[in-house]
Amino acid sequence: MKKKLVSMLLAAVMVLSMTACSGKSPAEVSGTDTDDAKETSADASSSDGKKVGVAMPTQSSQRWIQDGDNMKKELEALGYEVDLQYAEDDVQQQVAQIENLINNGADCLVVASVDSSALVNALADAKANGIPVIAYDRLLMDTDAVSYYATFDNEGVGRIIGEYIEEKMELAKAAEEGKSYNIEFFMGSPDDNNAVFLDRGVMSVLKPYLDNGVLVCQSGQTEFSQTNTLRWSQETAQKRCEDILSGYYGDGEHLDIIASAFDGLSYGCSAALTGAGYAVGDQWPLITGQDAELMAVKNIISGSQTMSIFKDTRILAEKCVTMVQAVLEGKDPEINDESTYDNNKLVVPSYLCEPVAVDAENYEKELIDSDYYTEDELK
Ligand code: BGC
Repeated sequence: MKKKLVSMLLAAVMVLSMTACSGKSPAEVSGTDTDDAKETSADASSSDGKKVGVAMPTQSSQRWIQDGDNMKKELEALGYEVDLQYAEDDVQQQVAQIENLINNGADCLVVASVDSSALVNALADAKANGIPVIAYDRLLMDTDAVSYYATFDNEGVGRIIGEYIEEKMELAKAAEEGKSYNIEFFMGSPDDNNAVFLDRGVMSVLKPYLDNGVLVCQSGQTEFSQTNTLRWSQETAQKRCEDILSGYYGDGEHLDIIASAFDGLSYGCSAALTGAGYAVGDQWPLITGQDAELMAVKNIISGSQTMSIFKDTRILAEKCVTMVQAVLEGKDPEINDESTYDNNKLVVPSYLCEPVAVDAENYEKELIDSDYYTEDELK
């Protein structure tokens, strides 16, 4: 009995000293993942003085500004010091920023990449310096230096866009009645894994209608290799839409649907449509989008965009912060997907937030009632 007591005490001392060395919770070190153990680690943890480097892709689109602000606010509220950097869609600038964050003593990095495969060396440096990395919204590809991934269900975003088009244009009924509609696709950046997933989601719903002739793509550009838009650029989308309109819609063909993967692309397409003589309200095409940017919601209200995808960046930041706490304080973050996001090196444990379609019918409920925007901002 006495011998058993001594060995139990010894085991407890070992777990405590391993905890002190590794920064992991007693539950993680001992493998006993009980609620009691989690509470103990929560009580004992401290974020004081720890630095979190947050690398965001660009300030050219509203969502990333909100993402950065939310992350900073939430992390600072927990006592972390935050260094927030924006790379303005410049890959080399982002690499330099990550190197700086490492050199300046970051304890953890949160990265929303410009080009998801271009950070392999910088992230290897982080790993070599014992700095854990969380992928924010965009998966970090080809690296084993990433611990967790907080994002939205990216294929789900595409599926919702496809289903919205299917429902609003009554494609199933059109098939029975022998009707057809012209559609063009404006997808995201080829160096962003999210864009690939989104395209897959859109096509999972719409491909059958392209196959049975209910949807007709006059340009013939339906493959992602043809429809992608490098860096999600509004200007590139506008130019491509202008070329498509002049090249394929000059002869009395009317463009009925624009499947756009991002609000910025939708603005570019709208400008191209106006330039080609289309007018809002008068057979203006159904135009989708993503991010529910303030400008997009105003456009939805005025009729130049039909819908967008609302991604509540407050929830994303909240989930990402639990991942930062997990790697720094040995807590358990909430994970709801352990199979989808293979980055070619590992399947990254992920939390997928839920995207929601917003249009003229539900934007008040989804965006104003949830305090995402005020009524005044939308005027
Ligand atoms: C994000 C989208 C965003 C796009 C362009 C993607 O990685 O998931 O929400 O619209 O980047 O910024």
